[in-house]
Amino acid sequence: MLQPPSRTGHCLLETLPHLRNRLRWALFLAACMALLGLPGAAGSALNCHKTCICASNIVSCSKMNLTTVPTSLPLYTAVLDLSYNDITGLRAEWTPIKLAKLHNLLLSHNGLHFLSSEAFTNVKQLRYLDLSSNSLRQLDEFIFEPLVNLEVLLLYNNHISQIDRSAFVGMLNLQKLYLSQNQISRFPLELVKDKSRLEKLSLLDVSSNKLKILPIDELQVLPAWIKNGLYFHNNPLLCTCDLYSLLAHWHIRKLNSAVDFKDDYKCVLPGPQKTQVGVFGLNGDYMNCSTFKEADKEAFLEQTLILGCDTKRRDMLKTWVMPGNVVVTAESNQTAKVLTDGSLKIDSVRPEDSGTYTCFAVSEALNETIYVVLKVHNFTMHGSGETLNTAYTTLVGCLASVVLVLIYLYLTPCRCFCCPNKGKNRGEDSIHSSMLSVTPTHEDPALKAELNRHVAFIDSKDLQGQNGKLNPNGDEDDDDLDEEAGSLGKGKRKKSVAESISSVFSDTPMVV
Ligand SMILES: *[C@@H]1O[C@H](CO)[C@@H](O)[C@H](O)[C@H]1NC(C)=O
Ligand SMILES: *[C@@H]1O[C@H](CO)[C@@H](O)[C@H](O)[C@H]1NC(C)=O
Ligand SMILES: *[C@@H]1O[C@H](CO)[C@@H](O)[C@H](O)[C@H]1NC(C)=O
Ligand SMILES: *[C@@H]1O[C@H](CO)[C@@H](O)[C@H](O)[C@H]1NC(C)=O
Ligand SMILES: *[C@@H]1O[C@H](CO)[C@@H](O)[C@H](O)[C@H]1NC(C)=O
Repeated sequence: MLQPPSRTGHCLLETLPHLRNRLRWALFLAACMALLGLPGAAGSALNCHKTCICASNIVSCSKMNLTTVPTSLPLYTAVLDLSYNDITGLRAEWTPIKLAKLHNLLLSHNGLHFLSSEAFTNVKQLRYLDLSSNSLRQLDEFIFEPLVNLEVLLLYNNHISQIDRSAFVGMLNLQKLYLSQNQISRFPLELVKDKSRLEKLSLLDVSSNKLKILPIDELQVLPAWIKNGLYFHNNPLLCTCDLYSLLAHWHIRKLNSAVDFKDDYKCVLPGPQKTQVGVFGLNGDYMNCSTFKEADKEAFLEQTLILGCDTKRRDMLKTWVMPGNVVVTAESNQTAKVLTDGSLKIDSVRPEDSGTYTCFAVSEALNETIYVVLKVHNFTMHGSGETLNTAYTTLVGCLASVVLVLIYLYLTPCRCFCCPNKGKNRGEDSIHSSMLSVTPTHEDPALKAELNRHVAFIDSKDLQGQNGKLNPNGDEDDDDLDEEAGSLGKGKRKKSVAESISSVFSDTPMVV
């Protein structure tokens, strides 16, 4: 507060020593007054008659043209309303004492553009913090770390373009985070993704920002109770059929984020015109995306299965009914058991277990019924693995014979004495090209897709107990959390192609 005048008047002070001394005095006095809590240039003390309304533990100083937070706030303050003022920065010492009872702090409409990294160290009991409609541009690392009790954080309508990946670290109780109407171009996946996510966060609003790309694969595998509160409408997203499928699926599941803002999910068609269309129209003329249909669960004979009951809310009471209207009970000797998290475990499935499983989830606020259609194949996964192995053995055999033939043709004692080197070179080249032809040297989407699908099938051997659901990308994505969203989609796809090639070859001994 006291620095800016001394800094701005610096060159003037150099030339006029007389004035300099006087200003020093003025600054000294101002500092004294600030320390004593006297009204003055620096933060005036709370005035419950003129500038604020004090109603027991509520202090409301809204629309009072305040430029600083009033000092000497009573220790018992629970709600502090400073909205619609001119407080442009929140310094570390805005409250020198701990306000242990303060649970609501309202600072919206203030032109705030500076938050000290220690702004919240003395208000650790905050549960509701409103910083909306200000001029914040970035959120630094650990800025909100002291706010372990915060449940709702409003940051909408600022100019935030940069969010440090550690900005929200430590906010163990945060349930609702509103980041709408900012300049965000990177989806903050770390907030919702398994392992790094804020455990209680069930509403994340990044609508009306500058998101072009979403980590669609990661979003699709999130539990429904997170997706239900994940709002990303009104962003300049790039149209893809993956985006369509994602939202169509959410809509079928009646998730609030997709249902309530169905018409606000827009995307930009590829091409120079940058035409904006509704995402839900992508299965029509724009892109001919195939209409989304929920896939049945598939399983193999004797597999152990876990059917999830993926509800829109956490902590619901879940009961299961098997095909033929058989209720799963705890005591019986059924092969199916309800686990503590509400999912259904079926040991050693048989083809007769195929059918529709129904999960009834009840809570005070909402009742949900979820259907899972299961299809059990009449062969074991091992069996299918064997046929795959046979196919590979045949392939290896074929390639080996080709190599032998080539060796026979070119490496046998050369009858052509005039040009032994030429023959040899040609032989090496053709072996080389016959091996490399398997790898895509150019970007061929069809081939990519083929390879991916292929590998998913091979991997399925190792995915026992994962609902027979095949995840083409596996679980290798721990560390690309830190990738920029812009490069995320592309980089990831390339990586998985590379991996799929190597895993195709890892089964085949002939390639080194
Ligand atoms: C705040 O400032 C505006 C414009 O300077 C003025 O019109 C308004 O009366 C002021 N409000 C208070 C409570 O002083
Ligand atoms: C979509 O399919 C229709 C016919 O089924 C075709 O006329 C149209 O050109 C296709 N549009 C695109 C973008 O592929
Ligand atoms: C399950 O228990 C009932 C008795 O409670 C018994 O009659 C039935 O044979 C048992 N079924 C199996 C598959 O063990
Ligand atoms: C959910 O169902 C139970 C009975 O199954 C009923 O008592 C309760 O009122 C229902 N709750 C809602 C929100 O519909
Ligand atoms: C499964 O296959 C076996 C033979 O491999 C056959 O005997 C049995 O009837 C089949 N079961 C079903 C349910 O199709």
